[in-house]
Amino acid sequence: MKKPEYFNISRRSFMRRLSAIAASTGVPLWYLERQAAYAQGAKEVRSANERPRMALVGAGGMGTGDARNSLRFADLVAICDVDDTHCEKRAVQLTAKNKGMKPKTYSDFRKMIDKEKIDVIINGTPDHWHTLVNMYAAKSGKDIYSEKPLTLTIDEGKRLVKVVRDHKRVLQTGTQQRSSARFRMACEMVRGGRIGKLKEVVVWLPAGLCDGPFKSQPIPDGLNWDFWQGQAKAYDYVPERCHVKFRNWWDYSGGTMTDWGAHHMDIGYWAVGLKAPTKVEGKPTAKPVPGGYTTFSEYDCRFEFSNGVIYRVLTTADDNPFGGVVNEDGQRNGIKFIGEDGWIWVNRGGIDAHDKGIFREPLPEDAERLYVSNDHRGNFFECVASRKDPICPVEVGHRSATVCHLGAIALRTGKKLTWDSDKEFFVGEHAQEANSYVAREMRAPYDYSFVS
Ligand SMILES: NC(=O)c1ccc[n+]([C@@H]2O[C@H](COP(=O)([O-])OP(=O)(O)OC[C@H]3O[C@@H](n4cnc5c(N)ncnc54)[C@H](O)[C@@H]3O)[C@@H](O)[C@H]2O)c1
Repeated sequence: MKKPEYFNISRRSFMRRLSAIAASTGVPLWYLERQAAYAQGAKEVRSANERPRMALVGAGGMGTGDARNSLRFADLVAICDVDDTHCEKRAVQLTAKNKGMKPKTYSDFRKMIDKEKIDVIINGTPDHWHTLVNMYAAKSGKDIYSEKPLTLTIDEGKRLVKVVRDHKRVLQTGTQQRSSARFRMACEMVRGGRIGKLKEVVVWLPAGLCDGPFKSQPIPDGLNWDFWQGQAKAYDYVPERCHVKFRNWWDYSGGTMTDWGAHHMDIGYWAVGLKAPTKVEGKPTAKPVPGGYTTFSEYDCRFEFSNGVIYRVLTTADDNPFGGVVNEDGQRNGIKFIGEDGWIWVNRGGIDAHDKGIFREPLPEDAERLYVSNDHRGNFFECVASRKDPICPVEVGHRSATVCHLGAIALRTGKKLTWDSDKEFFVGEHAQEANSYVAREMRAPYDYSFVS
């Protein structure tokens, strides 16, 4: 095995670095030392001909952040956005860190992918564009770092898995919590029985927006509103439907269930370790305002897994992901694992347990180890070079998004539903109604033929 970069520094400074990480993350030193021996080191500096050529599709907040971070590993040759203002602004902003090279700008990702010599794309478009962009890139032989949730529907995920595998592409889903030692340790401890047999997982997600009605307005200069809406039904331009706030509309996303859920529900799902839940039911606990955002801002959802684990997803008014761990009334954005012998709580702010002593004792040498990645984008670029699977390949992105979509479908139908994880369809009572949400009609020309 190749020596990770950790070992290129002296043992003393290596231990100093690990101690600092342990102090700031709450992850014990023994765990960090052990994972370092297994980590795939992400090389930051490559020779000019080794560095992949990268393009960004969707130059909003997250896509730009992903591209900026990825400049450690690749050169940015082009940016594409259906909003010219975003495209130009980001091209200028990223030039300095891109060794002074200004990326070319495009408004149609197909033209950019056809024309430019590109190895990888970063997909930072809104959820309703993820699949078509990813399919076109895969069919064109590009590797993909795609933002979460990987798809808008379960059906899109089934199709995308096939296209990515048929074309032998590397795809990393942007669920970066899997590349954090704290979340991984929580999952390994749960799977390793440190809190006894797992009984329940409680995922707290931030409440979404509940507002409206909204007025239509003139389309801003430079924005191709028809292209932005893509497969969704066409509406007059309403700013609250577009940049950033698209998350709160079923047309483009699934509310906080698929937005924050793609992170925290993914971690709960990783710890359970099964393909999918078998039952799901849910109820909204706040009603959308007529003429306003359509997704439910507050809800209570309950899933069952075949091993008897109950998996609850609730909303909280606390949307601060860095706000430390939970207090005992549970009002914090994060994940709680409850076992027969105790509990573990984890979020981006820290980790806690019924007894912190359970973190001190190392897991047995033969305990199950999960894939180690400490740098989500670095792991992607390592896999682009090695052609191995990254930590969140297309199947993981699809299956994990499926859990979020199941929750959203349960809220929309208000029924208790049964899911067949092999066929990837609802079965039994209310199956017909629920299955009508597994795929969506796509508005022409923005259907699968757009990327064939
Ligand atoms: N991993 C994370 O922690 C994280 C955090 C925030 C957002 N995200 C995800 O990133 C995605 C983008 O979210 P955001 O907050 O950056 O949104 P945003 O509105 O800021 O950015 C989206 C950009 O995509 C552009 N766009 C839309 N359709 C396009 C198309 N067909 N071709 C090219 N460009 C197109 C928009 O004009 C906009 O500039 C979402 O899927 C979101 O869930 C992930």
